[in-house]
Amino acid sequence: MNGGDGPSSYARNSSYQRGAIDAAESLLRKEIHKRLDLTNHSFSSSFTIADFGCSSGPNTILAVDIIIQALHHKFSSSLPNVKSTPEFQVFFNDLSHTDFNALLLCSLLNSLTSLQVSPALSMGTCFLRHISTWPTPLAKIHYTGSSAEVAQAYSCQFDKDIKSFLRARSHELVEDGLMALIVPGVPDGFLDSQCSTGSEFDLLGSCLMDLAREGRIKEEDVDSFNLPIYYTTPKELEDIIRSNRELKIDKMEILEGMDAHDTMPDLNSRVLYLRAALDGLIRTHFGHQILDDLFDRYSLKLAHSSFILNPQTHKSIMIFTLLTRC
Ligand SMILES: C[S@@+](CC[C@H](N)C(=O)[O-])C[C@H]1O[C@@H](n2cnc3c(N)ncnc32)[C@H](O)[C@@H]1O
Repeated sequence: MNGGDGPSSYARNSSYQRGAIDAAESLLRKEIHKRLDLTNHSFSSSFTIADFGCSSGPNTILAVDIIIQALHHKFSSSLPNVKSTPEFQVFFNDLSHTDFNALLLCSLLNSLTSLQVSPALSMGTCFLRHISTWPTPLAKIHYTGSSAEVAQAYSCQFDKDIKSFLRARSHELVEDGLMALIVPGVPDGFLDSQCSTGSEFDLLGSCLMDLAREGRIKEEDVDSFNLPIYYTTPKELEDIIRSNRELKIDKMEILEGMDAHDTMPDLNSRVLYLRAALDGLIRTHFGHQILDDLFDRYSLKLAHSSFILNPQTHKSIMIFTLLTRC
């Protein structure tokens, strides 16, 4: 994710992702109130919250804030005679090159007083669509629009990564802890040809090929560039989670009200959304010199893509899942 708070930063171009947190807010509040059991809570220890995949923008602060408010509400309604409020400890977790300085600034501006950057968990919100490595065989730049074999390789890698993610979290989650996942996906039984999910990546791939044809970058570098991003389906995700013997699904539903055209109403916001998310990957692979040109080209091509810009073809969904220990 693009750090800082500049025009193409993730912090300023993540309104779509923020939409997922907004859409999950009432569910999070309701489920915390309903499922959290404070019977065994010790007031001498702090209450731990972790956000896995927090990135560097304000969204993570919003998510943590919603959780803390819901916990305050739960405490005051369940234990009206206890006057002290619990202490909260928040862990922000992301890849090591994440701009944690920008996040620190956000958290200070939002009056979160202490910040820990390291892996841990008691309760977490998560944003899972990244896979850990480029699967083989390799796609042009993404599995959409590639062969079934390539799509299968991405699916296998996703399966492996989520299983390993859940295994690690199941060891960390405290006895009465809750874990919320927000996972981007596509509906069960969906066909690539009916929707624009992934088409943006194909369009970006064609811009990279144009640069290769003009000799600005090498074609073999385009061939070896593969986006480690995967859109699962509710069924696939459910099967993966169910294979974990230590965690169980308490709730799974598709978030309502997630419309890309509401959160990114114009062409420029669509371009910046993609740039903020992919800037780092492209910079690392091709160098920073091509970035402006690449996204100018992408913007021109996108302006002519009635398919991608048509709200009817935007079929991607956000899958909300609440997990507890078995
Ligand atoms: C789409 S962003 C979501 C950020 C934030 N949660 C939000 O709602 O705006 C996904 C984040 O997951 C992070 N990520 C991907 N793989 C990860 C991993 N293996 N460990 C930790 N973070 C990871 C990415 O770096 C990125 O910041």
